[in-house]
Amino acid sequence: MWRVPTKVIAVANQKGGVGKTTTAVNLAACVAALGRRVLLFDLDPQANATSGVGLEKVEGASAYHALLGQEELAKKIQNTAFERLEVIPSEVDLCGADIELARSEGHLQRVARALRPILDQQRFDVVFVDCPPSLGILTLNAFAAADGVLVPLQCEYYALEGISMINRILSQLHDTGVNPKLELLGVVMTMFDGRTKLSQQVVSEVREHFGERVFETMIPRSTRLAEAPSFGKPIIYYDKFSTGSAAYELLAQELLDRLDSKPAPAPASAGQPESGVIV
Ligand SMILES: Nc1ncnc2c1ncn2[C@@H]1O[C@H](COP(=O)(O)OP(=O)(O)OP(=O)(O)O)[C@@H](O)[C@H]1O
Ligand SMILES: [Mg+2]
Repeated sequence: MWRVPTKVIAVANQKGGVGKTTTAVNLAACVAALGRRVLLFDLDPQANATSGVGLEKVEGASAYHALLGQEELAKKIQNTAFERLEVIPSEVDLCGADIELARSEGHLQRVARALRPILDQQRFDVVFVDCPPSLGILTLNAFAAADGVLVPLQCEYYALEGISMINRILSQLHDTGVNPKLELLGVVMTMFDGRTKLSQQVVSEVREHFGERVFETMIPRSTRLAEAPSFGKPIIYYDKFSTGSAAYELLAQELLDRLDSKPAPAPASAGQPESGVIV
């Protein structure tokens, strides 16, 4: 069967609560439902993605030892109840990885190194890495291992603040050679409320800055999306006919179209946005 190399996507924004985990979990499930083999890699010690796909937080189940080179990462992969969706869970011990890794050699390449054998086996089509809300060592490791970064931006006034920092980091990773292939795969607007002027203003401002890199599909604010994690189910399995489910299904299709058709709209190191406005 025809196989393309696994795509590794870091879902990141150093701002907390913007919809990273909701996006990682639901995109992973929707992309799997579209027939791709998906690995959801929970790299956040909060372990919200882990519980979001119905797994308990279990001591010793996270990538921690694998990142320190003491174990194979493949041994940490677990099945979920959902077809074609597997997960590397997290738990609170990953907090320690930040500190341990900072002291170790090649500390930014630990995730890339640990993932390598899994990617070489072509066991998955897409890996989604759910990052913690910081640009600390775990997130930088995800960036170093990724082909692309997907940034969820909440439709609120301060949305743009986070992305300027991420842009800077992306160009640094390029310039230092840590990950020259890394690109800003896309920006997804989350918690959109079409009834408010603010949501619409934020979206048009973000589109002005990031043009085609902003996904057309926007994720609406929806209580069903917020409820689903407490049932350990992605939205397509919790409430398939909700607006949130429809949105993530469309986003998954848009993402796959983007992944399947290279190159991306614009390189992450493109510098200042075309509008000339400094973000
Ligand atoms: N589209 C949405 N509509 C309504 N609630 C949402 C939506 N997306 C996310 N939420 C809720 O907002 C909160 C934050 O979302 P989420 O956990 O996905 O953000 P995060 O960026 O991963 O947070 P953290 O930075 O803490 O990891 C959660 O309670 C989640 O259920
Ligand atoms: Mg999260």
